[in-house]
Amino acid sequence: MDDNYKIAFEKTRLAGSIAAGALKEVAKIIKPGIQTEYIDNLCYEFINDHGAYSAPLFYRGFPKSCCTSVNHVVCHGIPSKKILQEGDILNVDVTAFKDGWHGDTSRTFEVGEVSIKAKKLVKTTYEALMKAIKIVKDNIFLGDIGSIIQNHVEAEGFSVVQDFCGHGIGQSFHEEPNILHYGQKGTGEKIKTGMIFTIEPMINIGNYETKTLKDGWTAVTKDKSLSAQFEHTIGVTKDGCEIFTSLEKND
Ligand code: MF3
Ligand code: CO
Ligand code: CO
Repeated sequence: MDDNYKIAFEKTRLAGSIAAGALKEVAKIIKPGIQTEYIDNLCYEFINDHGAYSAPLFYRGFPKSCCTSVNHVVCHGIPSKKILQEGDILNVDVTAFKDGWHGDTSRTFEVGEVSIKAKKLVKTTYEALMKAIKIVKDNIFLGDIGSIIQNHVEAEGFSVVQDFCGHGIGQSFHEEPNILHYGQKGTGEKIKTGMIFTIEPMINIGNYETKTLKDGWTAVTKDKSLSAQFEHTIGVTKDGCEIFTSLEKND
């Protein structure tokens, strides 16, 4: 592989650091009593102040600058006047578009003290993402990623959402290939040095099934059980991968 991908890596590193920076600001203000719209404003301002755009805003008609998914909302929750309560879990998903390139990342936050079960869900989801990131390198199979996530999550008694997946990312927000968070080792496409994609497992306490509400966006668990998600944008190298959306080194 020539050096072409290095430009893509540089651009994505920049977009990714802005998205991660926004989440870092969000982390500081999460507490019971705030509206999810307040988080949206903060993301909008932070990303604009860094010379970037919020990719979700007006993406296929999405009305806000980030997604805020509370409790049984799996993903694509729309920021609103909804007030966060002590004990909620909340995923904030931020995507910055900078100089023509995207960086996409999300984390699940705990609002005040949450239940032991919710804590375990959040921890397991984060571990699943990081375990998958650790095995990524040139020449592994996409199925290796899905398999390591599914095995970890199911061993803890949770389930992997199948209706949404990670994705290639670059000059477009969502590109080939789809990155499934379940599957079998040694199956599917081989990943190659220079590829840039997201891994973003959505994990439910109960059943894996989801449905989309009438607003056309908000995806919830069918059984109303809690759902958590973490997302990083990564670039594949010969011996591993680079995380473009780290908050701190390796986080
Ligand atoms: N950030 C989401 C993802 O990880 C996509 C959000 S699309 C939106 O792919 F329109 F809902 F913002
Ligand atoms: Co994504
Ligand atoms: Co995202």
